[in-house]
Amino acid sequence: MKNIDENTITQAVIAAMRDGGNARLRKVMNSLVQHLHAFAREVELTEDEWDQAIRFLTAVGHITDDKRQEFILLSDVLGLSTLVTAQNHRKPAGCTEATVFGPFFVDDAPAYQSGDDIANGASGSPCFVTGRVLSVDGSPVASARIDVWQSDEEGFYDVQRPPESAATAEHRARGWLRAAHDGSFHFRSILAEAYPIPHDGPVGQLLEALGRHPWRPAHLHFMITAPGYEKLVTHIFRDGDQYLDSDAVFGVRTSLIAPWIRHEPGVAPDGTVMDEVFYSLQYDFVLNPADATHQHARNG
Ligand code: BEZ
Ligand code: FE
Repeated sequence: MKNIDENTITQAVIAAMRDGGNARLRKVMNSLVQHLHAFAREVELTEDEWDQAIRFLTAVGHITDDKRQEFILLSDVLGLSTLVTAQNHRKPAGCTEATVFGPFFVDDAPAYQSGDDIANGASGSPCFVTGRVLSVDGSPVASARIDVWQSDEEGFYDVQRPPESAATAEHRARGWLRAAHDGSFHFRSILAEAYPIPHDGPVGQLLEALGRHPWRPAHLHFMITAPGYEKLVTHIFRDGDQYLDSDAVFGVRTSLIAPWIRHEPGVAPDGTVMDEVFYSLQYDFVLNPADATHQHARNG
């Protein structure tokens, strides 16, 4: 391989990968190289721009650690996360749609009983959430595990608070509970509010340079798992939010928008007498039964 020029470089790289790795890696890398080269040709990438891109990716790496994942944020704002989620979760009509996972889930969130207050001290107007977990035929999915997480009224997740703060240590506004035998669940939390994705790093600078805002419409994250069903990772978005049509990470689906109903002080859905304004949200989730093909693919 000598005298490679701008017309022969793509094939030269592909030929260099001909015998290595496994078939899937070769397929992915062949395609990546072809698209990357086609992109550089199409925009006639200059050396300055190449240098700027390298510095940008270096900054994305430098700000990333086990608490902050700027690469995922980059994938999110470029729409790659939504594309990958959508093409990996095609479902029969009637199933609840999936959306992006986001960076704020934590593994060791506390377990709660039905009716508990998962806010655990997070600030915000009280909100009572009820719903059911169903199969696509309408039958209840008993004992499904429901993980839920959200930001507080200032738009911060507990993990975004300083590491030594009580919010981080105590896991606020997140946790998991199980649906009852009839698939129903209910818990108390706080009103979801719109918030900006972390924009104090290179991804924020990119958004600004592109004239894009960093806001996400108010939402509540859910991850629902039950044996025999495809895992559902989704959010419920608050109807009326000003960012529903311009979510910074392209995660909104019409079917996932629901009303948070405002109530004057009085009796809450669980019988609690409230002396302040509170909200309620009702949403039923429909899981996709994992068929034999899916099981096979997943178990490899
Ligand atoms: C989130 O909803 O938590 C989220 C999703 C993508 C990027 C940043 C935050
Ligand atoms: Fe979120």
